Amino acid sequence: RQNERESLYIILNFAKNFYVNQLHDTEEGQAIGLSYFRERGFSQETRQKFELGYSLDTWDALSREALAKGFSVDILEKAGLLIHREGSQTAGYDRFRGRVIFPIHNVAGKVIAFGARILKADKHGRGNQPKYLNSPETEVYHKSDVLYGIYQAKNAIRQKEHCYLVEGYTDVISLHQAGIENVVASSGTSLTVEQIRLIGRFTPNITILYDGDVAGVKAALRGLDLVLEEGLNVSVVLFPDGDDPDSFVRKVGAEAFKEHIRKASRDFISFKTEILLQDAGNDPFKLAAVISEVVNSVVKIPDAIKRQVFFHRISEMMKVDEQMLISEGNKLLRKTH
Ligand code: GTP
Ligand code: MN
Ligand code: MN
Ligand code: MN
Ligand code: MN
Repeated sequence: RQNERESLYIILNFAKNFYVNQLHDTEEGQAIGLSYFRERGFSQETRQKFELGYSLDTWDALSREALAKGFSVDILEKAGLLIHREGSQTAGYDRFRGRVIFPIHNVAGKVIAFGARILKADKHGRGNQPKYLNSPETEVYHKSDVLYGIYQAKNAIRQKEHCYLVEGYTDVISLHQAGIENVVASSGTSLTVEQIRLIGRFTPNITILYDGDVAGVKAALRGLDLVLEEGLNVSVVLFPDGDDPDSFVRKVGAEAFKEHIRKASRDFISFKTEILLQDAGNDPFKLAAVISEVVNSVVKIPDAIKRQVFFHRISEMMKVDEQMLISEGNKLLRKTH
């Protein structure tokens, strides 16, 4: 097992170097991959920091090179780099072809997987090809435990005592380039307890910067009771509809971006209350449901003083008696403890 993990790190590192070289040293890589990154405004320094690469639009450029260097079909397959059909005469074909490559690093900086983006995509991809293709789960890659960018961000997170959480690879990269380095991405999955604990190793303070669309808001609401349970302090910032942190920072620049975060940042409980209240309108049954739902979130907070502060706040927002909220909360607390 230990040996297999080591072999996987070695082949994944080999693949990463191969993709980086293809980006710079091939005509196709330069004409397609490099121009793509340049168009997105990623500087050379940024490309190096994130070890961005390119996979040629051929069937087996990576595996052919790896096999020639003595790596086995078996390890290529176990690393998620080679797709091998049972009973096929040939070794198989590369998983990533004709895409720009975003290596995914663990906390220690080892490459454990790849995200690979199609070059020309509308919002949802091209034809039946997904916009992003990721490595499958492997011995060293458990998607639900991983945060993209944690290796590049960890020192800044400690230093700032704060972590920004975004949705996508390119949000992390653009923010770094804008000088905001304490940022990681959940990469399209809904947030897991493992990911939250990973952030919690470096700071208790998280601000969620999700895309300014309905999906983004829903994702923000979904993940967040989990974060409260872990005792972390969560705030939320939304972006104008249609923008994500990457597009927004490129549009307005680093200073205005930071200003937006300062102004639009809401603690999660108030954020959730406000969104739910908007949905409920004046319907008393819906309002009652909102009150229950929000009290439910507040009691997830382990710290009694913080709970008290939030009960006060939400009683004002919802115009209901604070003591009533507290006693409802206490009932729930007795049930769960
Ligand atoms: P760009 O279009 O390159 O700016 O990417 P984005 O990060 O803004 O993409 P989006 O907001 O659509 O999705 C957020 C994240 O979800 C991405 O960074 C990916 O990690 C993931 N994701 C998006 N589309 C796909 C997909 O088709 N397949 C998979 N597996 N993941 C995806
Ligand atoms: Mn796991
Ligand atoms: Mn989105
Ligand atoms: Mn984007
Ligand atoms: Mn996005």
